[in-house]
Amino acid sequence: MEQLRSKLDEVIIYLKPYLPIANSHVVNFISNNFWETVIPSDIRKEVDLKGTEFVLANFWSDYPIPDSLTCFVTSSKLNNLNSYPSSCYLNLDDVYNVLQSWGYNPIDKSFKLKEFMAAKKMHEVEVMAKLVADFSHYAGTDIIIDIGGGKGYLSSLLALAYNFNVLGIDSQSINSEGAKNRTIKFEKYWQTIVKKSDSFEKKIFCPIAKEKCNTYEEYYEKYSKKSNVVGSTYKQVTEYVTEHTNIVPLIQNEFKNNKKKEFALVGLHTCGSLATTCLKLFIESKNCLKLLVNVGCCYHLIEEEFTVNPFWNDVENALNSNQSYGFPVSKYLKDQQFILGRDARMCASQSPEKVFNSKDIINPTKPLFYRALLQVYLVEELGIENITRCHVGRLAHKCLTFNEYVHKALKRLQLNTEVDDETINKLYDKYQIEYERIKIFFILKQTLAPIIEGLILMDRLLYLYEQGINEAFVAKLFDPLLSPRNHAIIALKKN
Ligand SMILES: C[S@@+](CC[C@H](N)C(=O)[O-])C[C@H]1O[C@@H](n2cnc3c(N)ncnc32)[C@H](O)[C@@H]1O
Repeated sequence: MEQLRSKLDEVIIYLKPYLPIANSHVVNFISNNFWETVIPSDIRKEVDLKGTEFVLANFWSDYPIPDSLTCFVTSSKLNNLNSYPSSCYLNLDDVYNVLQSWGYNPIDKSFKLKEFMAAKKMHEVEVMAKLVADFSHYAGTDIIIDIGGGKGYLSSLLALAYNFNVLGIDSQSINSEGAKNRTIKFEKYWQTIVKKSDSFEKKIFCPIAKEKCNTYEEYYEKYSKKSNVVGSTYKQVTEYVTEHTNIVPLIQNEFKNNKKKEFALVGLHTCGSLATTCLKLFIESKNCLKLLVNVGCCYHLIEEEFTVNPFWNDVENALNSNQSYGFPVSKYLKDQQFILGRDARMCASQSPEKVFNSKDIINPTKPLFYRALLQVYLVEELGIENITRCHVGRLAHKCLTFNEYVHKALKRLQLNTEVDDETINKLYDKYQIEYERIKIFFILKQTLAPIIEGLILMDRLLYLYEQGINEAFVAKLFDPLLSPRNHAIIALKKN
C-alpha cells in the first residue's frame, strides 16, 4: 500500500501542472486563446519556430529527434499505468501466472466466437468470461452476479460456456428483456461452436424441454424457442443498483435451491460511478462477495466529490441523484481533496493507442477545428454569449467544407439566422494557424489520457487495499486497439 501511495504522489506531482490542458475543452480553444494560456511554453515556442508539419513529422517518425513534444510524451509515459508497482498492475499473462502461483491450473477451453457480435464485444467477452470462470473456480463461487449486465453478452457466455449460475442485474428493463431474447438466439449459435470444439462436452441439457433428444438438430427443431439457460441458470433482474443494494436476497430469490454462501461480482463496462458502487458492494460483508472482476468506462459520468461544477448540464440531468461519489474513493486522495475536473475525466475516456497507432491526425482533428471555429463565429459574429455547451453532434465528417458545416450546425442549434458565407470563408482563412495548433493540443491531451485513467483506477485499487483487501490488482485484459477501456480491477477475499 505504501508503494502505491508514493507512486500516486509521484504521478500527481507530474500531472498537476498539466491538468489545465486536460481540463480545457477544445470548443473554446480559439475563443479562449488556449494556445497562449495552457500549452507549455517550450512546446509552443518549438512549434512556432519550426512549424507544425515539421514537429509532427518528427513526432510520427520511427526514430524521432528529441524535442519538447517527444520529451513531453516520453516523460508522460513514465507516469501511466505501466509505471505503477508490478504488484498493482499486471498484464493478462501475469494474471494467469498469479493464479498458477496460488496452485490453480487455468481452464483449458478455447473457442472463437464469430459473426454473432461485433469484433469488439466478442473479444471482450471471450477474454473476460474465461478469466471470470478461472477466478470463480479458484474462489469456489459458482453464482456470478453481473452488474449492469446490459444485453447479457458476458452473462450468457458464463452460463453457456462455463456452466455458471448467473444473475444479470440492469437498471433498464429493456436490457433485461433484450438479454433474454439475445441469449435464446445466441444459444443456437453456441451449439454450432460446441459441435466444432473439442473443449466442450457434447451433451444436451433440456431443463425446460423434458423430452429426450438424440441430436442437436432434433432438439432445435422441436424446441427452437426454448432455452437451456434463460430462466434456469441465467436469470435477469431489473434494479437500479446503489452501494446500499442488498445482493443476497436477490440471489436467494432467483436461485432458490442454492446452498452456496459466497458469490462473485462482475461487471463489464460499468459506466461512471457504477464501477465504484461495485467496489463498495464488494467490501460490504453482508453481500457475501468473495470475488470482484470489474471493468469500468465513461469516466466523464463519474461524480467527483471535490469539484464545484462536476458535469456539463446535459450529463447532470441524465444522472441519478442516488449515485454516490465515484472519485476519489481512496481515503488517501480524499484527505487531499484531490480534484481531476470534468474535462480531465472526459480526457481519460479517449483512445490514445488507436490515435497513435493510426498516425492519422487529420480525421480526428478536423471536427475539433470546425467546432472551435464555429464557437468563434457564434461568439464574435453572432454575439451569442454564455454558450455553455451547444451540441452539434458528429457533423463535420458529413460536410465537405466549413461553410456547409456552419449552415448545418446553426440549423441543429435552431438558430434562425442569416449566414454570411463571405464572413465564414474569411474566418476559415484567418484561423488556419489555429487548426495547426489544435493538432498539437490534441496530441498533448491524448498523451495525458492514460495518466488520468491510471490515477482513477489506482485510486480504486488503493481504496480496496485501505479496506483490507490485499489480493487485488489492476489488470490489462483487452487489446486497446479493439477495446480502449480495457482494464479490470480484480480482487479476491482469501480465507
Ligand atoms: C455500458 S453498459 C454495459 C453493458 C454490458 N455489461 C456490456 O458490456 O455489454 C452499462 C449498463 O449498466 C446499466 N446500469 C447503469 N447504471 C446502473 C445501475 N446503477 N444499476 C444497474 N444497472 C446500471 C445500464 O443500463 C447499461 O446496461
